[in-house]
Amino acid sequence: MDKNIRESLFEKALEAANNSYSPYSKFRVGAAILCKDGTVFTGTNVENRSFGLTICAERSALTSAISAGKAEFEAVVIATPDADYPVSPCGACRQVLSEFLDRDAEIDFGSSADALQKTTMGELFPFDALHELGQRS
Ligand code: THU
Repeated sequence: MDKNIRESLFEKALEAANNSYSPYSKFRVGAAILCKDGTVFTGTNVENRSFGLTICAERSALTSAISAGKAEFEAVVIATPDADYPVSPCGACRQVLSEFLDRDAEIDFGSSADALQKTTMGELFPFDALHELGQRS
């Protein structure tokens, strides 16, 4: 992915992180998902007092894009401004993202634009055993 696009996605993810509802963890996360048509959707983590119902930033961004009719995605950039090291997507988000992103889709995460850890969907979720289920008619 082009450096300028990556940086702009990070800025959008950071803006979303500022809207985080995270009174329990006090850990803000923002995600920006780039659709193949060039549009960008963002999401943030929304916690809940039952804890288990917390929605992560990545799933929040993805569901918002799908709700707007998008189906093809290029990349995801995640901003974790409250950590001083790159915080990777949780297991649930890796599973959900893998439903829609190709193995070579770029997924980057970090606390600042110049310290982003770059990965791919395939690196984060290497053994995608159930992928073929979605291709059955
Ligand atoms: N969180 C995310 O939104 N995305 C991640 O990739 C890691 C964790 C959220 C969930 C919870 O609100 C807070 O960060 C602490 O785990």
